[in-house]
Amino acid sequence: MTLETTSNDLLTRLRPAERFFERDELPKPLDWEAEFGARAPVEVEIGCGNGRFLRRAAEDRPDTLFLGIERALKYARLANERMIKYGIGNVRIVRADAARFLADRVPESSVDALHVYFTDPWPKKRHVKRRLFQTPFLDTVHRILRPGAPVWIKVDLFWYFEEILGRFERSPHFRVTANSVESDPTRDVYETTGFEQKALRMKGIVFALRAENLA
Ligand SMILES: C[S@@+](CC[C@H](N)C(=O)[O-])C[C@H]1O[C@@H](n2cnc3c(N)ncnc32)[C@H](O)[C@@H]1O
Repeated sequence: MTLETTSNDLLTRLRPAERFFERDELPKPLDWEAEFGARAPVEVEIGCGNGRFLRRAAEDRPDTLFLGIERALKYARLANERMIKYGIGNVRIVRADAARFLADRVPESSVDALHVYFTDPWPKKRHVKRRLFQTPFLDTVHRILRPGAPVWIKVDLFWYFEEILGRFERSPHFRVTANSVESDPTRDVYETTGFEQKALRMKGIVFALRAENLA
């Protein structure tokens, strides 16, 4: 069945949300069309920080709806303020723990891409369980993504990159389609996040991974 989408014209008329949402303000399960007031492909960013990536991506693709999930109050607020400042109507921000939010509220096969840029590595041994990419999380990501939908990941630590890469390679739900070292600090594509710019300035290198959700 072909998804009937709202036209570009309507999406550019969407208004930015006046404020970010708290997790419990959104229904279970989430109805994307009702929340955004438009029907279109949906992409999710986990840990959107101050919303730099979301703003640029949403401007670049006004025919797509974006949800930023951010745990920190300060950044959820900053991200939403950025959308208001630039008049971005196709982004919503929710303050929540992403793993729990996706598992509890996001309907099956309803998301067209997932972005995770510079998720916390939790390097101490006693904090390992806090790392995002655990098996239950990968199962949830598989459930919410449409078949064939991509997961885009960037990290600044090689050991963490290898760990995440290994988890995707071993998972029966994904196929790794690209992994690379990115080291050109002069480029300014919209995919560049605030954290990425800092990492490139300090270390000169980041690591990127793309995995495709299998049916
Ligand atoms: C290192 S910052 C990177 C921010 C942004 N992605 C960037 O590249 O500039 C990691 C962000 O992810 C958020 N975060 C970490 N774990 C999270 C989780 N489980 N759910 C939602 N946000 C999370 C943090 O609050 C922080 O803002």
